[in-house]
Amino acid sequence: MHVDGAPSVPSDFFDWAQKNDVPVLGICYGMQLIVHLLGGKVTSATNGGEYGRMPINIEQGSKLFEGQAQAPGGLIPQVWMSHGDEAVQLPEGFTCVARSQQGAVVAVEHPDRRIFGLQYHPEVHHSEGGTDTLRHFLLGVAGLKADWSMAEVLEEQLAKVRELVGPTEHAICALSGGVDSTVAATLVHRALGDRLHCVFVDNGLLRLDEQARVMATFTEHLHLPVTCVDHAGPMLARLKGLSDPEAKRKAIGAEFITVFQNFADGLEKQLGHKPRFLVQGTLYPDVIESCPPPGSDQKHSPKDLKFTLIEPFRELFKDEVRSLGKLLGVPETFIARHPFPGPGLAVRVLGDVTQGDALQVLREVDEIFVQTIRDFGLYDEIWQAFAVFLPIKSVGVQGDQRTHSHVVGLRAVTSADGMTADWYPFTAEFLRTVSTRICNKVRSVNRVVYDITSKPPSTIEWE
Ligand code: XMP
Repeated sequence: MHVDGAPSVPSDFFDWAQKNDVPVLGICYGMQLIVHLLGGKVTSATNGGEYGRMPINIEQGSKLFEGQAQAPGGLIPQVWMSHGDEAVQLPEGFTCVARSQQGAVVAVEHPDRRIFGLQYHPEVHHSEGGTDTLRHFLLGVAGLKADWSMAEVLEEQLAKVRELVGPTEHAICALSGGVDSTVAATLVHRALGDRLHCVFVDNGLLRLDEQARVMATFTEHLHLPVTCVDHAGPMLARLKGLSDPEAKRKAIGAEFITVFQNFADGLEKQLGHKPRFLVQGTLYPDVIESCPPPGSDQKHSPKDLKFTLIEPFRELFKDEVRSLGKLLGVPETFIARHPFPGPGLAVRVLGDVTQGDALQVLREVDEIFVQTIRDFGLYDEIWQAFAVFLPIKSVGVQGDQRTHSHVVGLRAVTSADGMTADWYPFTAEFLRTVSTRICNKVRSVNRVVYDITSKPPSTIEWE
């Protein structure tokens, strides 16, 4: 807010909302904007801000929290925070209706003007009662009706795809092996039939046996038309010597674009014209998180592809895509798969992915970790679990010898949408089992560490 070019709303936004009887709920930065633009004061938090889990105390009689369970004297739920600035003086007519345990203003309201603000993130899984508050705002305050179903969303998206692509054009889709692109391709395949052409790229950064596992699902279960391209050699050659995370991502993105172009060129020869459309499983959190912060020059690649994008899930969250997948007959075990990032293991080998036997070690450790999670019956409780290869060695003792071997990190988190996450509290028995299995089976690893950081302040991936 105090940065040049910080995003804002149009200057007449609040007058427009009031004239049109539109209630406003500002979340996090949105609450700060409300306070700042309507005459209050927002400054840098004196205690450095609040990140992650934080208890809050809700006042009695608030309109925004009306009807939600409140103990006398205020309920104390845990909510998810991510802010460095805070409201220190409210605009005229506003009241503070909740404070954090540290005393920061975390909910404000002007019930007559129907303007509300929450400093925390009610939309994330870890904010207790957050969904109730949003539901109350949308249904109770704004008077909306929750009368749609996923089956209707599916029909709507099928019709949209058919209308966008028309009766003769073709589309291509890059399958990553993840839920989003698979469900997107299955949906578009239902809409277009054989005018959809899928490509799965083995970029050399996949998990153990991934190619065989996903190709079996694509072809045997979903009957998708998929070409498998082996691009591991060129990809690893291009990544050699690159350590900077963004440089690695850019290089991987550029190689992908080359593969797409070659695939599309091949189809052009075969069909007599180039497919105009590209299917992507972009989710709503991707849309939000890829908005570059003001002042950054982050750029994204799909525009470089010169295809028209088909993104049926642009307004959906992961759990909704999983529901759509079920409706489309994607096997349950596939739908339950943990998300896997596009740049693959490259973001899990810190530094140069071609260093020594990093990828091989990582694949073996990752497989043991995930298999142990399955053995303990925990896979479906966890949003994502994976191993990280650290570019350091540590001293150990194995047999009668001192060793100087690899250290691997394990990360497992719970989340509803990947935007916030908490580390999974494994039992000591699980941690002991997994570390023993890893050090016994992967000879070049002599130390296993477990990551106990939430997002924020960390991210889920290490790079
Ligand atoms: P972070 O690490 O940002 O991850 O907390 C949030 C979710 O996004 C995935 N992720 C990526 N996915 N390309 C992708 O396709 C990427 O560069 C990338 N980085 C992170 C991550 O696995 C998690 O599910």
